[in-house]
Amino acid sequence: MSTLPPVRRSVLRMQAYRPPLGNRHGALRLDFNENTVGCSRRALDALRRLTRAEAAVYPEYERTRQRLARWFGVAAEQLVLTAGTDDALRLAIDVVVEPGSMVVLVEPTFAMYRFYAERAGARIVVLRYGAQMQFPEQPVLRALERRPRLFVLANPNNPTGTLVPRAVLRRILQAAPRTWVLVDEAYFEFSGVTVLPWIRRYPHLLVTRTFSKAFGLAGLRVGCLFAHRRAVELFRRAQSPYPVAAPALAAAEQAVRDRRFLREYLRAVQTGKQVLVAGLQRLRIPQFPSAANFVLVDFGRRADVVLQGLCRRGILLRDRRSDFGRVGFVRITVGTPAQMRRLVRALEALW
Ligand SMILES: Cc1ncc(COP(=O)(O)O)c(C=O)c1O
Repeated sequence: MSTLPPVRRSVLRMQAYRPPLGNRHGALRLDFNENTVGCSRRALDALRRLTRAEAAVYPEYERTRQRLARWFGVAAEQLVLTAGTDDALRLAIDVVVEPGSMVVLVEPTFAMYRFYAERAGARIVVLRYGAQMQFPEQPVLRALERRPRLFVLANPNNPTGTLVPRAVLRRILQAAPRTWVLVDEAYFEFSGVTVLPWIRRYPHLLVTRTFSKAFGLAGLRVGCLFAHRRAVELFRRAQSPYPVAAPALAAAEQAVRDRRFLREYLRAVQTGKQVLVAGLQRLRIPQFPSAANFVLVDFGRRADVVLQGLCRRGILLRDRRSDFGRVGFVRITVGTPAQMRRLVRALEALW
């Protein structure tokens, strides 16, 4: 067989990113930080109402952009609709990172930051959370003195669950006016802490939000990238004309209108977290405080036995051992109190 024509060197150097999807159907899926009860019925009804004619034409974005902007408390000119956070990251990195540009990350964190930065051929500088999951503020500030092109941070962070206070984020933004600072707020609804209003003040701040987590629309792929209107102009210039499918737009619009669904789910997760945290404490399983809908725990040397035992009982958790180079780190998505009681019962039997 003849060889392929050349491709980008950065792609040849990359490892494929393959999350452990597959065989998840019917299980209690506590492995991807998704909404564990499903999306709002109003969002689902919006999908059902989609007409043949609407499916036949290219989607129009302006109305959804206006409505979502109102919900998020920004101007439509400060919002870019994307196919989830992944697409927002790809777009942002496409626009701001050139081959050889320096990108600063604090790991362990969401894998797609490194993925898109590597794909773009960036020079990636990695700092690390401490043993107690402390955010390395001083090393970050020192790295920013080298004027990287981009600094990316998840807040709260996945998988540590930690939250960087707004005062620290302000110091970072003020220290790095020549660096794009992307704050991924995928878990904002659970933490309640945001820097979104700051996009007016800091033209180098980018904020992402997603409909994949609290809103329960991960399967539809919809999210938003927020920035100063001058930056948004550039992102939209570089964006494909139809990045989000029409059903996803319709569902997102209804999802934000169903405030009751969101409120009740957030309350369920809050109580579910209390059930989980208390259960872990009773079993003396080390855990880290979390501001999100997941908790990082350390099963130590029994991680394999526990993960396999839970899997046999139809409960999936996310193995994060490779992130830490330490024995037993596992991430548990928080669900409803009943789901957490089921998990705790299973842990009691296995631990
Ligand atoms: C920090 C963080 N950002 C973004 C995402 C993915 O979001 P989306 O489904 O919108 O691409 C995840 C998913 O696990 C995440 O943990």
